[in-house]
Amino acid sequence: MSDVRDRVERIVRQVVVETIASGGLDVQRLTDSPARRPLIAANWKMNMLAADARRYAAKLDTHAESGVETLICPPLVLLPVLRDALSGDTHVSLGAQDLHPEHAGAHTGEHSGEMIKDAGASYVIVGHSERRASGEDDELVRRKLRAALGAGLMPILCVGERVDERERGATFRVLRSQLTLALTGLGQPAPDPRDIVVAYEPVWAIGSGRVATPSQAQEALSFIRDRLGELFSHAWAERARLLYGGSVGVGNARSLACLPDVDGFLVGGAGLNPEALSEIIAAVAGENR
Ligand code: PGA
Repeated sequence: MSDVRDRVERIVRQVVVETIASGGLDVQRLTDSPARRPLIAANWKMNMLAADARRYAAKLDTHAESGVETLICPPLVLLPVLRDALSGDTHVSLGAQDLHPEHAGAHTGEHSGEMIKDAGASYVIVGHSERRASGEDDELVRRKLRAALGAGLMPILCVGERVDERERGATFRVLRSQLTLALTGLGQPAPDPRDIVVAYEPVWAIGSGRVATPSQAQEALSFIRDRLGELFSHAWAERARLLYGGSVGVGNARSLACLPDVDGFLVGGAGLNPEALSEIIAAVAGENR
């Protein structure tokens, strides 16, 4: 019965997608709801030096009046550099790319949520597929998510299927399992939906130049919002921000930003260029129309 309901809901959402896509960006929706303020997050991965970070900060145009929140997730050592370079720009938030699940202790080379916060971050990416590929399992993702919330950081939980999983029709099973294992038992009352962001990042789209089609992205994000509704409540899920990530660039940002369940992007490669990131922000804000 719930499968039938899911299918009907997906068809309805698809019709909405096509309607909106034909009429351009639904900027009103993107900027109206304070609970779902659009978020454009740049994950720098292992790139940039201090001088690059300063140059980047000077060139970035966050389109401050647009209501879009910009987030930069640099390598950890550059957090204080960016914090100083961006001081005064309240439209840019800072984040880390990972954290250790423990609060402190003998963990050589690691950083706790508290340290990350102390260095100027308010967000942290959790469960990125590049970390999952190097051995991070769902249990560790679950622990990191709790550590982030415990330290007062907003986790961006990354979920997404590999290409072989998509090809054998396992996409929804993978998403359901990653979400359930990370989020079940987060406590009663549930955390504020504004404190958790979920990013759908199909692994086959990351760094590949092969972006998900709008209907693939919307279908997955709609599924994710439905599962969040089951795990928390429908009202909770409607207030949670969902990002799409995987080869987002200047050329495809608009067609993805208009999707009903896209509240922003997690950008890798294109986010290394401040002009490109500024254009993506502008596309989401509708300022290029
Ligand atoms: P990409 O990376 O934009 O270079 O595909 C996205 C990510 O890894 O978050």
